[in-house]
Amino acid sequence: MLGPSRSGKTTSLIIPNLLMTTRSSITTSTKDDVVRAMSGARRDGSTLLFDPSGTVDTPPGVRRVGYSPLRQASTWDGAVLATRSLVDVARRQHLDAGESHWNERAGALVAPLLHGAALGGETLGRVAGRVDARDATDLLNTLAIRYGEAHPSVALLRGVLATEERERSSIWSTASGLFAGVRTDAARAAAREAPLDLDEFLSGPHQLHVVSPSRYQAVTVPMVVGMIDEVVHATYDRHHDGARLLLALDELANVAPLPRLASIVSEGGGQGVLTLACLQDLSQARSRWGHHADGFLSLFPTTVVLPGIADRATLEMIHQLAGRTMVPAHQVQHSRRGRAQGYSQSWIERDVMSVGDVAQGRDGYALGLTDHKELRWIELTPSYADERFRPHLECVQPSRARSRER
Ligand SMILES: Nc1ncnc2c1ncn2[C@@H]1O[C@H](COP(=O)(O)OP(=O)(O)OP(=O)(O)O)[C@@H](O)[C@H]1O
Ligand SMILES: [Mg+2]
Repeated sequence: MLGPSRSGKTTSLIIPNLLMTTRSSITTSTKDDVVRAMSGARRDGSTLLFDPSGTVDTPPGVRRVGYSPLRQASTWDGAVLATRSLVDVARRQHLDAGESHWNERAGALVAPLLHGAALGGETLGRVAGRVDARDATDLLNTLAIRYGEAHPSVALLRGVLATEERERSSIWSTASGLFAGVRTDAARAAAREAPLDLDEFLSGPHQLHVVSPSRYQAVTVPMVVGMIDEVVHATYDRHHDGARLLLALDELANVAPLPRLASIVSEGGGQGVLTLACLQDLSQARSRWGHHADGFLSLFPTTVVLPGIADRATLEMIHQLAGRTMVPAHQVQHSRRGRAQGYSQSWIERDVMSVGDVAQGRDGYALGLTDHKELRWIELTPSYADERFRPHLECVQPSRARSRER
């Protein structure tokens, strides 16, 4: 979904989809407007809030949940996945290829440390402290006693610790950087909250709202990406038992710039995960996903374009996808004295839609690009005006954003 601010992303698409879906859902937002609306709609305790910046008030009837990569790291495979999330986020933040080697090596150090810490019941703060102090001895012992020397976690950690000193020092520094996003007070507070019960969450239509104001992005992105990755993988694992997840990612580029978005969209469809991603325009996507963003219009089977987009490249792309069409042209033939003598009909080729048509849109409508890349006008159904949705949202409380910062 592409649309600038106030074009209707939240009220015409996110909220109606949340009200209609029978799946469990994760919704991201920079504001608490959606969680407030949904807290009015559902009072059965199935609406959950993840607040990685620690700045959002909990609406009545909503339950807070936390996230820590340590929970996922309680199995070795989970530790590898949680570390991959941290490495991917770090790599995405420095799109420089030179960083990639160090991030990979740091990942080889961090995965065993996270797993050892999870087995030993340590806190996230304690593991971050161990990384800063370059101390792996205790955690290596925990792993070796538990598994023996042949286990990959032990072999990997011993391998990293045996590298030449200068290289080892760079690996520890990069590992410290990977923990930057989970070392904040807000992240540690989020790690202390009750974790999301994945079995319960995926067993029914529950809603998890991730609310993270833009100014906290730098510190919340690793936690948000880690949490979404964890729930996505849990859905894949439980897909054959009927688990279904809707990712309704508003403010995607700011709140949840998932490094593996493309694979979630392309592989997730067959494994129970449906992704609804909202961006202001494709230039916003390019700043986060680099050249991969150019393929977004073909990656997502369906695109909805709301009125008011200003980015020329986005408008050009939609205009080109709309293609050209043949239209009849009638010509009147005149006599020498100027009298109409007859008509002739020919066909001329014309753009289906000009760049201006795409930018301006139609009041109350969005442009839909179908999976066959045909353009359709779609009537919008704003949740505050449409009778199918409005009655569910009537007891919504006004927003009271908290200014408290931790
Ligand atoms: N309860 C309401 N009653 C009337 N109009 C509303 C109501 N809620 C929102 N609107 C209007 O609907 C339009 C779309 O709002 P919406 O919040 O859906 O936009 P958005 O695309 O999500 O914007 P943003 O990117 O700023 O979040 C805005 O002009 C807004 O003022
Ligand atoms: Mg919105």
